[in-house]
Amino acid sequence: MAPRKLAAGNWKMNGNLAALDQIDELRAACPAPACDVLICPPAVLLHPMAARAGDMIAVGGQDCHANAAGAHTGDIAAAQLKDAGATYVILGHSERRADHGETDAQVAAKAAAAHAVGLIAIICVGETEAERDAGSTLDVIGTQLAGSIPAGADAANTVIAYEPVWAIGTGRTPTLDQIAEVHDFMRDRLTGHMAGAGDCSLLYGGSVKPGNAAEIFAIANVDGALVGGASLKAADFAGIVTAL
Ligand code: G3P
Repeated sequence: MAPRKLAAGNWKMNGNLAALDQIDELRAACPAPACDVLICPPAVLLHPMAARAGDMIAVGGQDCHANAAGAHTGDIAAAQLKDAGATYVILGHSERRADHGETDAQVAAKAAAAHAVGLIAIICVGETEAERDAGSTLDVIGTQLAGSIPAGADAANTVIAYEPVWAIGTGRTPTLDQIAEVHDFMRDRLTGHMAGAGDCSLLYGGSVKPGNAAEIFAIANVDGALVGGASLKAADFAGIVTAL
């Protein structure tokens, strides 16, 4: 097994039922993609998107609760995501870590809950600009990896996304060497944290566009992308999918 090539779109808190037309446009623009294609819409759009996406496009959640069910108003269980058609769930995105104070331990518990129902967990890590400027990027990533990956994680049920916080939605990206440094480091660090670490997909996220996707995908140990803004328009996302 080699790492799965994955182009994943994270719609964040964007989109509505009318935006599902983007799915038809994406399928038309990429009728035979050479990689796995995933869209993670807001939870209320999961079921209708899954019904419309067909086999070519997988759908996923943007978060789940660590518990299987219960009195957690406003939260969503991993099994409910799966019931709505999800096969993936993004966990530990920096926006959740910042907006909701999610810790590495909570992310690991959520990932274990996702694994328990058969979802693939996309676990996000990434340094702030201050951490990069302080020269502590690899320490931060190493700590997040060690704390956020649950027991039982393996290359089949887990994807890691490196998203520098300062590159998200800013139009700024690390240099290709900086991305390579972090991805090589992550590949090395995963050994010991999960079975089959060499086959785990490692995504880069942060201002990926059609214009920079190919050079990022050419980096060793970059197996795809987690895309925010450019995943909202089918034509832009198609340009990224076809570059992988
Ligand atoms: O999860 C994807 C994301 O945080 C990157 O967003 O808009 O910079 O592609 P964007």
